[in-house]
Amino acid sequence: MSRPVQARRLEGIDKNIWVEFVKLAATYSTVNLGQGFPDFPPPDFLKEAFSRAVSGEKHTLHQYTRAFGHPPLVKILAQLFGKLLGRELDPMTNVMVTVGAYQALFCCFQAFIEEGDEVIIIEPFFDCYEPMVKMAGGTPVYIPLRPKAPKEGKLMSSADWQLDPAELASKFSEQTKAIVLNSPNNPLGKVFSRGELELIADLCVKHDALCISDEVYEWLVYDGKEHIRIASLPGMWDRTVIVGSAGKTFSITGWKVGWTVGPNRLLQHLRTVHQNSVYHCATAAQDAVAQGFQRELERYGKPDSYFVQLPRELQQKRDQLIQSLVAVGMKPIIPEGTYFLVADISEFKSEVPDVPDSDEPYDSRFAKWMVKNKGLAAIPLSAFYCGAHKDNYNSFIRFCFAKVRHTAEHLCLWQGHTANHYVPHSDASAIALAGS
Ligand SMILES: Cc1ncc(COP(=O)(O)O)c(C=O)c1O
Repeated sequence: MSRPVQARRLEGIDKNIWVEFVKLAATYSTVNLGQGFPDFPPPDFLKEAFSRAVSGEKHTLHQYTRAFGHPPLVKILAQLFGKLLGRELDPMTNVMVTVGAYQALFCCFQAFIEEGDEVIIIEPFFDCYEPMVKMAGGTPVYIPLRPKAPKEGKLMSSADWQLDPAELASKFSEQTKAIVLNSPNNPLGKVFSRGELELIADLCVKHDALCISDEVYEWLVYDGKEHIRIASLPGMWDRTVIVGSAGKTFSITGWKVGWTVGPNRLLQHLRTVHQNSVYHCATAAQDAVAQGFQRELERYGKPDSYFVQLPRELQQKRDQLIQSLVAVGMKPIIPEGTYFLVADISEFKSEVPDVPDSDEPYDSRFAKWMVKNKGLAAIPLSAFYCGAHKDNYNSFIRFCFAKVRHTAEHLCLWQGHTANHYVPHSDASAIALAGS
């Protein structure tokens, strides 16, 4: 008989909601607005760059490249982020390429978090932060964004979800090693304002804490809002690691190319974790992403830039989904960024009753009911909260609107609601723009 295997620090983090919901969506959904990736093609210039990389003359692109990032990619990232942050960046020491933003986050937690360190996580949060902190031996400390009631007759905005400054200050202590910031935020779509970032920055400086700044949705910002990089605020460059994703930037989530940008004093430790774990990322994909950035840098801010076109198309999709959800009786929270939208489902409690004292949060049971009965897949918001807070935020679900089938016509599948419940509009242009 073999002894039971003691898996180090893995207790309690083996369950993952995505496995269950992805399976349910595959079995029942006609319209899948659950999973967080675009179902439309990436831009042609990027597909062509990848084809050139794998079928061109340069056979070296089929082999290993520099471990910490293919030189053309780190060079162009240093150029672009240097421009965005207003500082000179060294491609070799201030940038490191990773297997998606996921690996970038993993490197950060493994490198910086020691036994007993506390890491502040703002709720709702991208779910991998919690297990990653725990695997590194740290303790997550949670602080929720608290919703303010919207103005009479108005829909709520993600900007109405705010940190309580006193509560945030109370979370910082001697043990605080880092705070994780995710702006624009998945799942709410909140884009933190300069004032909110200054509040976080001041506390980081005061308590000598690091900031792991997950900015994977940096280009997906709507209604003229500005994405502000916390690393550009006073005292923050030296203590911040920016995490980015080509998957989110160019609609190529399957390529898994990500990066970290930051001061060498921090990146040197990320390089140590990287060289002793993954070591190297796919060369051809890095080469194609480098070409994509080269093109974008040449068109920066111009109408034919993908960074200008993609948010414009997604904003239309956002607005169409808002109309459709209002028509079926949900209360969407207007996201300022990302391709996610959270909607309040409390009005449905008469149709899908709550079960008091159930172990499963209401939104999770609602999302299962919705996919089975209405063919529409979404993700319960409680999945983005720690165990102790799930029940406080259990009447919301998250939709992803980077989808071709996201409009009123598609949601007409919602039985029991006739087509004339929907706000009429045309989705033809959005589908054409989405390229399918
Ligand atoms: C907030 C956030 N960070 C990181 C990631 C991971 O990005 P990647 O696919 O580049 O690993 C995601 C993916 O959904 C995300 O939503």
